[in-house]
Amino acid sequence: MCDLSKRRGVLSMGPHTLQVPTELFALNRRRLVEALKKDNSDSLVLLQGGDEVSFYDTDTTYNNFRQESYFMWAFGVTDAGCYGAVDVKTGETHLFIPRHPEEYAVWMGPLAKCDDFSKKYNISKVYYVDQLSTILKGLNRAKILTLKGINTDSGLTAKPASFEGIENFSVNDELLFPIIADLRVYKTEHEIKVLKYVCAVSSYAHRQVMKKIKPGDFEYQGEALFLQLCYEKGGCRHVSYTCICGSGVNGAILHYGHAGVPNDSYIKDGELCLYDMGANYYGYAADITCTFPANGKFTPDQKLIYEAVLNANKAVQKAMKPGVSWVDMHVLANRVMLEDLKKGGLLQGSVDEMLDAGLAAIFQPHGLGHLMGLDVHDVGGYLKGQPERPQKVGVNKLRTARILQKGMVLTVEPGCYFIDPLLDKAFADPTLKKFLVPSVIERFRNFGGVRIEDDVVVTENGIEDMTKVPRSVQDIEDWMSGKLEESTFLDCEKSFVW
Ligand code: GLY
Ligand code: MN
Ligand code: MN
Repeated sequence: MCDLSKRRGVLSMGPHTLQVPTELFALNRRRLVEALKKDNSDSLVLLQGGDEVSFYDTDTTYNNFRQESYFMWAFGVTDAGCYGAVDVKTGETHLFIPRHPEEYAVWMGPLAKCDDFSKKYNISKVYYVDQLSTILKGLNRAKILTLKGINTDSGLTAKPASFEGIENFSVNDELLFPIIADLRVYKTEHEIKVLKYVCAVSSYAHRQVMKKIKPGDFEYQGEALFLQLCYEKGGCRHVSYTCICGSGVNGAILHYGHAGVPNDSYIKDGELCLYDMGANYYGYAADITCTFPANGKFTPDQKLIYEAVLNANKAVQKAMKPGVSWVDMHVLANRVMLEDLKKGGLLQGSVDEMLDAGLAAIFQPHGLGHLMGLDVHDVGGYLKGQPERPQKVGVNKLRTARILQKGMVLTVEPGCYFIDPLLDKAFADPTLKKFLVPSVIERFRNFGGVRIEDDVVVTENGIEDMTKVPRSVQDIEDWMSGKLEESTFLDCEKSFVW
């Protein structure tokens, strides 16, 4: 079962893809032990990995199993049905794998042995799941720490590990969550390398989509090309979320692409495309949005809105550094965009007053961006002891209000959308209506929207943008017409033979 062509201590999808060291996950475990040992030395952390889920009542599973993120963070194991334990006292790791019936070998391939897993994941102590009780008893720690806590993006609760016989142990399911969630907020150098890679793969695929898509295509044809390139060239078998590929008016549907509107519109000449797509490599996500004209040339109105959003994006990237509040960055993006919309004739009056009145949320109903890592909307946004969710309209949509620190990875994704129900609401509200120039706003009713989403890592003094796609109006037009060379964007992709 263990592919011996693969190097021990390294996970990869082939020599043309990034070699991910298992040390990435070993380091995460050491950080966890370090964080726990002062107050909880006599304990064991126990995490349960994800299981394959049946597709309704059929004998197939939801295709393409993806590991649960906390488990992935700690063990780097991509197989389903596993558990992992970390002994806080000794730092030792114990992996538990499913013991399959003999018939498994007929349908699914050779029965996995503990030794195979040990080699593949570079974890010396591997047992079967049915040995969990016995092994954990033998370790004789005062308590087992399992993971329970609310994901502040989804509102859902992480399911604590459970196994037959767990009732015979002293279990604490509260202690671990805030500690491990906070560790996940700060990315190590190993993790940043993987994130840079998955951003490079996604950027590459976005660039090809921009070039290939033309009026007359269906939106999903861009999605298809993106999926194919991320997998074929980058070894990314997963994407981090369902691709959002809106053209024209669909660009204003924030979560377009779901089953009801599966990127199935015809792209018309003169429309903008808003493509929000991100690959996933060994669990790590990218989340990039490109907005571009389907025919390769911006109209003056498209340029006006696009540049308002781009200026907001650039202003934020310039201001980001350790110590800066993410809430302030959101307000900065709003301010820059509103100023440009005023200059463009869509708005009138004082921008300060517009901000006070909450006008920005009419045009950008979502937050400026979010933490990103193993989850596209990564954990740790609102942990105890950190700034709480702001109440004011607009900023209340932020997925985190944290103060930026080195090692955080976030998206910067200002947007400007013309969403009918929100525009109607603004026109019906005297405190907002006074800022709108009706004759100009009406011109944009079926415009759709613009979002420019970059993935950045906070460094010692600022940020590094991991996104490598054409961004200015000129660069997009030059890229789409073939004037701009691929080599302009290669940077961290140089070592990969795409
Ligand atoms: N792709 C989802 C988001 O931008 O947050
Ligand atoms: Mn996105
Ligand atoms: Mn995003």
